[in-house]
Amino acid sequence: MTDPKRYLITSALPYANGLKHVGHLAGAYIPADIYARYLRAQKRDVVFVCGSDEHGTAIPIQAMKEGTTSRAIIDKYHQAIKDDFSDLDISFDIYHRTSEPIHHETAQEFFTKLNDAGELETKETEQYYDESTKTFLADRYIKGTCPNCGSDRAFGDQCENCGTTLSPDELINPVSTLSGATPVKKKTTHWYLPLGKHEQFLRDWILEEHKDDWRATVAGQCKGWIDGGLQSRAVTRDLDWGIKVPLKEAEGKVLYVWFDAPIGYISATKQWAINNKKDWKPYWEDKDTKLVHFIGKDNIVFHCIIFPIMLKLHGNILPDNVPANEFLNLEGDKMSTSRNWKLEMRDYINDFVKKENGGGQCVDMLRYYLTQIAPETKDSEFMWKGFQDAVNSELVSVFGNFVNRTFVLMHKLCKGKVPKLHEDILDDNDKSLIAEIENTKAEVQSAIEYYHFKDALFQIIDLSRKGNQYMQKKEPWIVAKLTTDDGPQSIAAQKSIDNTLHICLQLCANLAVLINPFLPNTAKKMLYMMKVVDKMLDWDNAGKLKLLSVGYSLREPQLLFRKIEDTEIAEQIEKLKAGLVKQETPKKMEEPKVTTVKAEIVYDDFAKLELKAGTVTACEKVAKADKLLKLEVDLGTEKRTIVSGIALHYSPEEMVGKQVVVVTNLAPRKMKGIESQGMILTAEDSDGKLQLLKPENPVSPGSNVS
Ligand code: MF3
Ligand code: ZN
Repeated sequence: MTDPKRYLITSALPYANGLKHVGHLAGAYIPADIYARYLRAQKRDVVFVCGSDEHGTAIPIQAMKEGTTSRAIIDKYHQAIKDDFSDLDISFDIYHRTSEPIHHETAQEFFTKLNDAGELETKETEQYYDESTKTFLADRYIKGTCPNCGSDRAFGDQCENCGTTLSPDELINPVSTLSGATPVKKKTTHWYLPLGKHEQFLRDWILEEHKDDWRATVAGQCKGWIDGGLQSRAVTRDLDWGIKVPLKEAEGKVLYVWFDAPIGYISATKQWAINNKKDWKPYWEDKDTKLVHFIGKDNIVFHCIIFPIMLKLHGNILPDNVPANEFLNLEGDKMSTSRNWKLEMRDYINDFVKKENGGGQCVDMLRYYLTQIAPETKDSEFMWKGFQDAVNSELVSVFGNFVNRTFVLMHKLCKGKVPKLHEDILDDNDKSLIAEIENTKAEVQSAIEYYHFKDALFQIIDLSRKGNQYMQKKEPWIVAKLTTDDGPQSIAAQKSIDNTLHICLQLCANLAVLINPFLPNTAKKMLYMMKVVDKMLDWDNAGKLKLLSVGYSLREPQLLFRKIEDTEIAEQIEKLKAGLVKQETPKKMEEPKVTTVKAEIVYDDFAKLELKAGTVTACEKVAKADKLLKLEVDLGTEKRTIVSGIALHYSPEEMVGKQVVVVTNLAPRKMKGIESQGMILTAEDSDGKLQLLKPENPVSPGSNVS
């Protein structure tokens, strides 16, 4: 698409379940922001949308961890993430949220249209169900032993310890994280989007039409999915958090989060249009709109396969490109929330931006480094030392130094005013730098248009490096020694100085225009020094030599960037290492401790339980199950065999003689071939250790507990 009428830029909607880290920032937000700022500087019609992804199991799970409600979680993190983006000058035109009614309506309308058109199919499947809480269990709600590494920190979708992707059926000894009960299989009906039907469309569109302009990493992943056979994807879930499926027969079901979230781009556009008295429709319906999705590589299948099919079926335009980034590692290791190996935006903001010597320059330093190391074609690495080097030896010593020198010398040798350009005495050095200014604009522009942001940024820094080299060759401070009188030699010397500083100043103005999409605070500071208005930053001005008028007086220079000290780097590395949660120690937060997710019950529900106190009369370990003990419990009128998962906390010997509380009317269950005829109650302390619940003083076996 060469010259579209309008642009719609999107960044992946972050889950409102926690703060986001610099890997997210580098992957989907900074590149999109650079692109949007660049297009705005070109006076294009552009809307840049984003917002919080507030559905899916990630939200109630975080609510469990924090012992609060899903609503409280999204409100808290929506605001926090929004603030962080704003502190880092990500210039969304709207930062919306998927909990808004306008989004619910939009997503439901989407579902209805596809369903009415017969584009969805229903299927009945068996799914894990927790009978005690009467809920179907999303994959994340099932915990068990990993078939790959044996860790007990495996969930129905992934093992937290070894990272293997799992399905709930693969878990050994699956238990519900809601209740600890062993889940059972139960039938349920869901709506599916048959992807297979659209294989040819995807092949033509991605592998043919876009074979030259999509990143190889993105097209490659798509090809892998398509060649691997496209399965139907369920677009509904049994969950009580999300957007209700708009069908009578789908009571209790919600839209799958990945069905509703990308539609969030559309509802955000609608809300933006309302706020700005515009029409949203052309942005999603007119083929003259260029839609670009900025995402991380884990979102490729959704943005390149599933959502495009939905868009096509619904009659919308398709993305023109999806420049997905690979992952950013940190100090030699994968970023991970569960291991706390990460640098959150908020940390950087507090430790740098909000410090006395921080502010916009620190925002720009981070934007600079993250663009320089952007994982455009392969995973890359955030190293604190690398950050320091990038700032000190490029921003400070090259770019900042050039601008500063130019201003200092202009004040010293040209009375603080833009000197004249004497065309008659231009030498080769002058001419070649002037040519570089023009070339660089073309190169930066083409790099940005191909989403090669790091390359574009490199070109700009390189231009300032050339400015320094030019200054070094021209040595105006030496030439100045010849300007001692009004003689001809002196006049010629002043003319040479004028030319050098005129060109350097015009270069500064050009650098401001070019750097603006990347480092907006720096550009602003340069405008201030040059006493010019924002309009100068119009992209059209790049490559021109007449941005500053001759005779115009400019301000004294301000330092554009401060140095990053060794101590600052050392502190950050120290902090990172100190916070690391070792893989062997499961994070306490991982265990849901508060069970407010269970539905409220009436007394009659409670009264259905039969609880009795009993005395353990015999106890032994269960073979091949390191967590299980087999107990014989005296309940007064009978003795029962009970299998209990307390072997890691109590030895068989110490159990004998202890009193316990038993659920006696629980249906018998087989565990490791032994029929367990009841359940023993325990409480879990903050270390994950189980403590028996028992009467304060011994009671006779069989006593009622209520
Ligand atoms: N919340 C998802 C994530 O963080 C991204 C959603 S992108 C959207 O991975 F397209 F669904 F909005
Ligand atoms: Zn594992």
